[in-house]
Amino acid sequence: MHLREGTLEDIPYVADIGCEALWDDEIVQYLAPNRADYPRSHRDNYLYRTKKRFFAGDRLIVAVTEDEDEARTGKETIAGFAFWSDTKGTSKPQPLPTSILGNRFEQFVLRIEGTYRWYFNIDRSYNKLRFAKFWQVLSENPFFEDITHHWELEVLAVHPAYQRQGLGSTLLSWGMVQASRHQLPVVVAATHNGKHLYRKHGFKECGRIDLPDSAFSWTAMVRYPGQARPPDMDPSPWLSSVLCHTSFRCVDC
Ligand SMILES: CC(C)(COP(=O)(O)OP(=O)(O)OC[C@H]1O[C@@H](n2cnc3c(N)ncnc32)[C@H](O)[C@@H]1OP(=O)(O)O)[C@@H](O)C(=O)NCCC(=O)NCCS
Repeated sequence: MHLREGTLEDIPYVADIGCEALWDDEIVQYLAPNRADYPRSHRDNYLYRTKKRFFAGDRLIVAVTEDEDEARTGKETIAGFAFWSDTKGTSKPQPLPTSILGNRFEQFVLRIEGTYRWYFNIDRSYNKLRFAKFWQVLSENPFFEDITHHWELEVLAVHPAYQRQGLGSTLLSWGMVQASRHQLPVVVAATHNGKHLYRKHGFKECGRIDLPDSAFSWTAMVRYPGQARPPDMDPSPWLSSVLCHTSFRCVDC
């Protein structure tokens, strides 16, 4: 297993993993209560949002299996991914991945697609009223406005078949290492499922948003640079070798 930069070709696979891994996520349960009735529509929406993130310049890191993996598929398989962004722009890949048509044009087309989706009710799995409330609550309660400069873990998902094998930790550690090179804290808006993982990596809770008319909430978590790792999270040789993979410059090398 190793990490590499995500590419345009990875987007459909990343969308599939995100859609599957986050199927029972609390925010998804809240926003897309009809996803079981309209799975295709739900998946299309996830693909749309994945493309939006990618062309907006969020940094996509994918974890891929290799030949020597137990599954022995003989080809590279994406097993998990993370989208990262940061307030200083240091997380952007160099050079930026581009589509044939150019990122600005892609963003323009995606904006039109978004408007079309919204007004013509394309995403049947979603509850539009909840969506609107959700964005209102978020805009009224900006999570990390006090932490001016930071790296943010926007999405983290590992395919269910590869969970609890350290992949989520590895994808998270990648961003923590990069952020610490710039002396920046890492923040994440965590749902219930992710909180254990973030706590384990030394993140502390710093805020909470309750979703309107539901029992679900979102927890703001932050980890400052220089904060000691919990003792059981000292990088294992396996983790170090992943972080030092040739695709990336590693601070420890
Ligand atoms: C959360 C997620 C990314 C973790 O990925 P992973 O590869 O399984 O994580 P790791 O194997 O590195 O697990 C590290 C630690 O996180 C915690 N953890 C991971 N999954 C957990 C779960 N389902 N329940 C409770 N704790 C969990 C555990 O403390 C675990 O350590 P342990 O296995 O020694 O007990 C993965 O379960 C996932 O994709 N979930 C759905 C999407 C999601 O919830 N994303 C986060 C939204 S904020």
